[in-house]
Amino acid sequence: MAEPAAPRAIAAAMQAATIFDLAGAVALVTGASSGLGARFAEVLAANGARVALAGRRREALAERAEAIAARGGTAMVVPFDVRDHDRIPEAYAEVEAQLGPVTVLVNNAGISAARRVAELSLAEWREMLDVDLDALFLMAREAARRMPAGGSIINVSSILGVRPRAEMAAYSVAKAGVAQLTRIMALELAGRQVRVNTLAPGYVVTGMNAAFFASPDSAPLVAEIPLGRVGTVDDFDGAILFLASAASRFMTGSLLVVDGGHVLVL
Ligand SMILES: NC(=O)c1ccc[n+]([C@@H]2O[C@H](COP(=O)([O-])OP(=O)(O)OC[C@H]3O[C@@H](n4cnc5c(N)ncnc54)[C@H](OP(=O)(O)O)[C@@H]3O)[C@@H](O)[C@H]2O)c1
Repeated sequence: MAEPAAPRAIAAAMQAATIFDLAGAVALVTGASSGLGARFAEVLAANGARVALAGRRREALAERAEAIAARGGTAMVVPFDVRDHDRIPEAYAEVEAQLGPVTVLVNNAGISAARRVAELSLAEWREMLDVDLDALFLMAREAARRMPAGGSIINVSSILGVRPRAEMAAYSVAKAGVAQLTRIMALELAGRQVRVNTLAPGYVVTGMNAAFFASPDSAPLVAEIPLGRVGTVDDFDGAILFLASAASRFMTGSLLVVDGGHVLVL
């Protein structure tokens, strides 16, 4: 005998496929040509979002977009350098013209470098803050101006924005700034029902650090991580889906740490 429709509908509302569904969403992911951003775009697309992939490397972006399309998703590329501040509103508008209003912004583009403060030049400091904080602010500001109710802004920080580590001053200051910008934007945009949260990854093997993690020099750092290993980009699938979807609909201004427990011992 067939089950009555109502209990089925109630059950469906509690299923992961419904809770994390992104059908109708338009996601703009910066830094989508490699690493975490490329994976974020793929996961968001696999769950129904139409995605725009941003970064400087046009060919890498096109390859990622083609892979998404081959799996039945919708993807476009927006190649630009986030240091070109005037391009940011233009790029955002290009995405909206092609896909419709952006409902999920993943502010992920970033660079990293290690240098002790005594040896850190003002130019190096400025370059890090330019990409990791100024550009992220400008992207977020665009979203603050344009994102419709129900939207979600995800600012990618780091556990180094939460805890200090020697040689990482410029990066850590930028990433701490990202988390604080998130909290303030969350307050400012809550009235419009736009949510703003920080994702704080621990160490993940990506283009940024693949050579280091392939070398024995990384062993002491990996040994610090309570779960006993460095992260891989797919370790973030659940976190990005959670923050992007209605699964996190009552969450704003939060910082979600995904790091194998590393921040506990930093
Ligand atoms: N890997 C880790 O261990 C780790 C840990 C914590 C936080 N994070 C954060 O995660 C984010 C992604 O990093 P990842 O590890 O995935 O590194 P990645 O593979 O090097 O990716 C960085 C991305 O940022 C883009 N990007 C860099 N400079 C740019 C610029 N001037 N204009 C436009 N795009 C630019 C790059 O694209 P193009 O080169 O094509 O421009 C690339 O797609 C960063 O914010 C990083 O700080 C990473």
